[in-house]
Amino acid sequence: MKVHGAVRVPGDKSISHRALILASLGTGESVIRGILDADDVASTARVLRAMGVQIPAFSESMRIAGVGVRGLRPPRVSLDCGNSGTTTRLVAGLVAAHPFAARFEGDESLSRRPMKRIAEPLSYMGARFEFERGDGLPMTVRGVDLRSIDWDTGGSSAQVKSAILLAGVIAGVEVRVTERAPSRDHTERMLRSMGVDVENDGNQVCLRPARRLAAGEFEVPADPSSAAMFVALAAMADEGELVLEDVCLNPTRTGFIAAVTRMGGEISREAVREVSGEEIGSLRIRPSVLEAISIGEAEIPALIDELPLLACLAAGCGVDLEVTGAAELRVKESDRITTVVDNLRRVGAQAEELPDGLRVRGVRKSLVGTVDPHGDHRIAMAFGVLGAVRGNRVEVKHPGTVAVSYPGFWNDLKKAVA
Ligand code: S3P
Repeated sequence: MKVHGAVRVPGDKSISHRALILASLGTGESVIRGILDADDVASTARVLRAMGVQIPAFSESMRIAGVGVRGLRPPRVSLDCGNSGTTTRLVAGLVAAHPFAARFEGDESLSRRPMKRIAEPLSYMGARFEFERGDGLPMTVRGVDLRSIDWDTGGSSAQVKSAILLAGVIAGVEVRVTERAPSRDHTERMLRSMGVDVENDGNQVCLRPARRLAAGEFEVPADPSSAAMFVALAAMADEGELVLEDVCLNPTRTGFIAAVTRMGGEISREAVREVSGEEIGSLRIRPSVLEAISIGEAEIPALIDELPLLACLAAGCGVDLEVTGAAELRVKESDRITTVVDNLRRVGAQAEELPDGLRVRGVRKSLVGTVDPHGDHRIAMAFGVLGAVRGNRVEVKHPGTVAVSYPGFWNDLKKAVA
């Protein structure tokens, strides 16, 4: 298989959610350029509209008139968060600090995902949470005047950290969040650009009381998690090279690039620059012979969403992989440990589950079979990449699953290998 050309994958999903939320809370008109037009971000727009924000249809450059901090209105309907954990957890932080209640609901996958992790700190701050089943959705959040918090999450989660930070901004109180390892820090960077005093120091973030958020200009870079699909594709190709443009190179997101480089991958960074407080640049990838790798707990946060792809990459080039310290994968859009291992076996690869990770035994052979991504967009794409490798034949059931984060994925994949 030969790769060629340049791909500009769509806008970063994490930054797109945050741009919509922060623009909505701003004073005056914010501009968002290059927003990701995909189902998950549409969920955030839908729930913000339900709380009175006028969000126009998505376009390359969109303007949002902020309602100001505490300007959201009580929703008249349940907030439908679709498949999006980020929408649910970040918006729960918003509602917790407003003087009204909102009921959150989502699809089957989202309804199974744990919300105790945000319910605990936000309840400590004073909000009330009611669950109808376990600690998943549907859930009702009742907001109040929140108090300050100093919270150790015991793990590493940008969604939990962001929910607390957003609640703190709206309530106008100081908050401090400590994590085991730093999670992605887009919320902090964007809040800073809107005039908020927020400091990251190692695994700790401290936000001082804010009164308002100045309107912002947000330029959304290409999503490194989507770009990773093409990094893996080019690394497994027989010839050619691929360029990925405008990729967000925030160090909390580049763990996959680091891992592939450690395996022997040839990835160079070009035209690196800063845009909207984020480092971005092009990646040039050439096919290479990769070697076995082990990934441990400390590395997980910076490549959490790329672990299914890393497993497919190891299986695709026939090298050993061991991932540990990643139990969090069990509560993503699917149980990503079981889904990845089951599907790798279906195509003839050797893989096994660990309680907190997985192992792939590298065998050089063609991989052939049909996989079921269980409604998980990243798993659908990772196996799509595996199927593009010469000698493999992988059919992905429900290919439309990719619409959650990358609706044009199959087209871009076809173009890169044509
Ligand atoms: C995200 C944070 C990560 C990541 C998810 C998006 C975000 O989840 O896996 O895809 O935008 O904050 P956690 O915060 O639960 O680790």
